[in-house]
Amino acid sequence: MDQNELAKTARMALPFFASGTVVHGFGRGSKELGVPTANLADEVVDNLPDQLTCGVYCGFASVNHGTVYPMCLSIGWNPYYKNEKRTMETHIMHSFDKDFYGEILKIVIVEYIRPMLDFKSLEELKLAISSDIRISTEKLLEEKCAEFSKHKFSVHLSSTLIDSCRTESSSLSLSNNISLGRVFTASLQS
Ligand SMILES: Cc1cc2nc3c(=O)[nH]c(=O)nc-3n(C[C@H](O)[C@H](O)[C@H](O)COP(=O)(O)O)c2cc1C
Repeated sequence: MDQNELAKTARMALPFFASGTVVHGFGRGSKELGVPTANLADEVVDNLPDQLTCGVYCGFASVNHGTVYPMCLSIGWNPYYKNEKRTMETHIMHSFDKDFYGEILKIVIVEYIRPMLDFKSLEELKLAISSDIRISTEKLLEEKCAEFSKHKFSVHLSSTLIDSCRTESSSLSLSNNISLGRVFTASLQS
């Protein structure tokens, strides 16, 4: 697939809502890159739709149903580190006092930024990520993206709800909102 097709395919899966436990990665995000990332549990990564191709995306995130912050995330095998497992790593544009391993991370992915790339040096990877953070911060201020910061996600486990939601004339595509067998509905905060 060429880059345009990759971007087009990825955008078909957006907006994408997901929620899961934060698990330990390799710990390089903070140490080597100076960019802390929260890795989502395998159950979420293993159930991503095929359209959500490997790459860098941006959106909004909240930890333990708290404040919604802008974020950018990578989905893929981190070719620079030659990972053998696909990961989903969220960098939240906020300075937290502590780690949140084991806590619940909810995200909505609203835009695709670029494909996942290999780099010749750590410096190049760091530069690419700081550019991603800048681009994401700007994009998320655009109205079509910013509106998603006003959504709060509530989780329903009932399959009946999945069926009833399917018939709702929601502006959000439901198929994008199922993860871990749950439906993540979005309702506007008052
Ligand atoms: C915004 C963003 C963009 C990224 N882009 C790439 C990339 O293009 N290539 C790559 O190999 N890794 C990329 N990564 C993944 C980093 O390599 C990864 O977060 C780092 O290895 C830390 O992983 P760890 O928490 O498992 O230690 C990106 C991460 C973020 C947050």
